Amino acid sequence: MCGIVGYIGTSKAVPVIFDLLKRLEYRGYDSAGIATIGSSIQTFKTEGSVDDLVSITPDLAGCIGIGHTRWATHGVPSSENAHPHCDNAGNVAVVHNGIIENYIELKDELIGSGHEFVSETDTEVLPHLISEYYNGGLESSVRNALSKVQGSYALAVISTDDPDKIVVARKDSPLVLGLGDSEFFVASDASGILKYTKNVIFMNNGEIGVISREGVEITTMDGARVENKVETLEWTAEAAEKSGYDHFMQKEIFEQPISIRETFSGRISSEGVNLEVPVPNARRIVIIACGTSYHAGLFGRYAIEHFARIPVEVEIASEFRYTDPILDCGDLVIAITQSGETADTLAAIREAGSKDSHKLGITNVLGSSITRECQCILTRAGPEIGVAATKSFTSQLAVLLLSAVRLGRLRGALSAADENDFIYELKQMSANIRRVLNCAPSIRECALLFADAEQFLFMGRGANYPIALEGALKLKEISYIPAEGFPAGELKHGPLALIYDGVPVIAIATEGMVYDKMLGNIKEVKARGAIVIGIASESDTRIAKYVDYVLRIPDTDPWIAPVLASVVLQLFAYYIAYHKRCEIDKPRNLAKSVTVE
Ligand code: M6R
Repeated sequence: MCGIVGYIGTSKAVPVIFDLLKRLEYRGYDSAGIATIGSSIQTFKTEGSVDDLVSITPDLAGCIGIGHTRWATHGVPSSENAHPHCDNAGNVAVVHNGIIENYIELKDELIGSGHEFVSETDTEVLPHLISEYYNGGLESSVRNALSKVQGSYALAVISTDDPDKIVVARKDSPLVLGLGDSEFFVASDASGILKYTKNVIFMNNGEIGVISREGVEITTMDGARVENKVETLEWTAEAAEKSGYDHFMQKEIFEQPISIRETFSGRISSEGVNLEVPVPNARRIVIIACGTSYHAGLFGRYAIEHFARIPVEVEIASEFRYTDPILDCGDLVIAITQSGETADTLAAIREAGSKDSHKLGITNVLGSSITRECQCILTRAGPEIGVAATKSFTSQLAVLLLSAVRLGRLRGALSAADENDFIYELKQMSANIRRVLNCAPSIRECALLFADAEQFLFMGRGANYPIALEGALKLKEISYIPAEGFPAGELKHGPLALIYDGVPVIAIATEGMVYDKMLGNIKEVKARGAIVIGIASESDTRIAKYVDYVLRIPDTDPWIAPVLASVVLQLFAYYIAYHKRCEIDKPRNLAKSVTVE
């Protein structure tokens, strides 16, 4: 939600800031703004995209600046509400990602002291507070201002009174500093600055940083010096580029043979699964997540219960945190979050910690907030820029399969021979995904037959049920076609009422997942006029008699087939959205990281 960036160095700031903003645009894209320091602070803001901002910004000479791309929370998208926000004298400019919860009280107090506000945002109180508490130095003034603030923030501040510094601060919103050669970068996440440097500092909660051309100094809110922990990013700059694809989503779908190979690298061998999963003797596992990661969690539940025989519950993070969950030290709570920044998931894992439960994170982003909260398994899918999760989802499924197998072995629920057989199949997963991708033209052809459908239904059973949910989410997220996923066994309990003549139903009918019952469910919807698209294995000779169209996946283990089916559904959604000319990488109203509640 919102991307903030900053640059200080010897080059002109404006082109660098535009480039950084474009790379972070997936975090929010309803308005954008930039501020640099010349003889005074120069600010340009607009409703719309970063390209719109570029078109209204003149060539500016300043070598220091900050920028923002917004996902509106407080106040409609407009140039007034776009960041940076300034104080009345125009001496201080601030970009902010997060929410200032007590802004109404602060605003009232500031108005009482003569400050005039021009926007509806919570953020605007920050530059006013900084100028109100200005005490001769930007850093200490920011510190004073933040002592009045409740809420979450990643912010970057520049001031004409201290024109060779950017002051940054972080509480519960991500912030990364990039260290170049006499130049320094600020960004909400590392993929933004990969092109410029791989040496980064992930700021921690409660830290304030002062960035000058000489370097970075970080202190706690109390002023204690913090040792700079410089980390080296493993992602390549190319990984965050479109590289000739029409969309990041398309590129990310087609990268899955590689991302899956990376996920497995060093983790599977003839010795078995090598993955550090804590507390194998946990009495219960509770998985918490949102959106696509929640669907991965549902799949994880089936896999862990099957392979390791541990009871698993799966909770939507935003619900879990407010239900006073019953947890204790016998529970292992697993938070799944691609970005590692989802506010509800982070709050839920903290809740688990407060109840003395064991914690584990599954995330794609090294240095993200979840990696600071608990031990994490990295999914290693590489940077995912498209708002719709694709390769991160299949890597989450892969990690959950590995965890299930590892726990099964540690608990004696799975024999070494069965583990070996399964590893053999896991090793084929990357090549099998490639074979699915080779079928993209026929998936496209099938998808386009239904591009004008008014709604879709997706159904599956067992571990294919979460895949049906995910297929429906992918389609509605990027094509805006209403789509619902449900467990096929529930048909007669309600969803059957949605079936009418010609409605497309996607049935994930891979073998092993209650296959015969699934065929029965297909007959039920066919009898009521549905057009059924079945996803089935190559060697399945029965399915064609039951459905109107079949999309095939390679023969594999029943626990791996759902991963392959997800790739089919990603392509299916992608081609429909492409045909409808939707903004695939930036679906309306959505942002990649949901860092606010
Ligand atoms: O970063 P996270 O995995 O925690 O994100 C959770 C959801 O916001 C995310 O999966 C969302 O549903 C995706 N846009 C779906 O494609």
